[in-house]
Amino acid sequence: MPTDNHPGPLRVLVFGASLRAGSANARLASLVARQISDTGATVDLAAMHEFDMPLYDGDVEAAHGLPSGALALRDRLERNDAFVISSPEYNASVPGVLKNAVDWVSRVQPQPFKTKHAMLVSASPSLVGGNRGLWALRVPLEHLGTRVYPDMFSLANCYQAFAEDGTLKDSGLQQRLTETVSGFLSLVEADMRYVCLERRWYEFLGDRTDAPITQRAEQ
Ligand SMILES: Cc1cc2nc3c(=O)[nH]c(=O)nc-3n(C[C@H](O)[C@H](O)[C@H](O)COP(=O)(O)O)c2cc1C
Repeated sequence: MPTDNHPGPLRVLVFGASLRAGSANARLASLVARQISDTGATVDLAAMHEFDMPLYDGDVEAAHGLPSGALALRDRLERNDAFVISSPEYNASVPGVLKNAVDWVSRVQPQPFKTKHAMLVSASPSLVGGNRGLWALRVPLEHLGTRVYPDMFSLANCYQAFAEDGTLKDSGLQQRLTETVSGFLSLVEADMRYVCLERRWYEFLGDRTDAPITQRAEQ
C-alpha cells in the first residue's frame, strides 16, 4: 500500500522466481514489466539472484537477524505499491527458493506483504503452464495479507512461446496477458486513490473493530 501522500504513478516490482540464467519466467517477467511501463507506471524489474539467501533457520535469525537478500527483497517490496511474480512450478507447487524467500521476509515487523497487491504469472514447458504452482503460491501470500489479483496468467510451452522481440507469438495469448495486466493495474490504482479495499479485505470475525488495521498478519 502506498503512503497516503504518494502522488506519482504506480510503482510495481516485477521479478521472476527462477535462478536459472535462461529462465523463461525471467523472460515473462520482462514482458510484463514492459507492458506495465507502457501504461506510464514505474517498474522495478528484479532478478531472483538479487535476493539470494540461506535456508530459513530460526537459530540463524536469532543470532544474526535477517540475511541481506531477505532485507533487499523487503526493501524492494516496501518501495513499490504492488508486485508481480513470474514463478516456475516445481512438482505442482511453489519452488523452494521462492517459498524460502517469502518465509524469511515474513519475519520482518511490520511484514511488508500485507499492504501490497500482487499479480501472479507463470511459465512452464508443460501444457498447464505452471498454473498449479500459482495456486499454491496464493496460500502463503494471502495468509500474509497480500491482495492477490484473482486472474492469473500461465504460459504453456514456454520454450516455444516467445517471439524475437520478447512478446508472445500467439496474439490471443498476448492479448490476454495485456488485459490481465491492465485489469490488475486498474485495481491497484483504484485502491490507491480510494482506499476502500484494505479494511474490507482484512475484516473477519473476531477482528478488532476499534483498530484501523487488523493485527492478523502480524501474528
Ligand atoms: C525440481 C523441478 C520440478 C519441476 N516440476 C514441474 C512441474 O510440476 N510442472 C511443470 O510444469 N514443470 C515442472 N518443472 C519444469 C519447469 O517448469 C521448467 O524447468 C521451467 O523452465 C522452469 O522455469 P524457468 O525456465 O523460469 O527456470 C520442474 C523443474 C524442476 C527443476
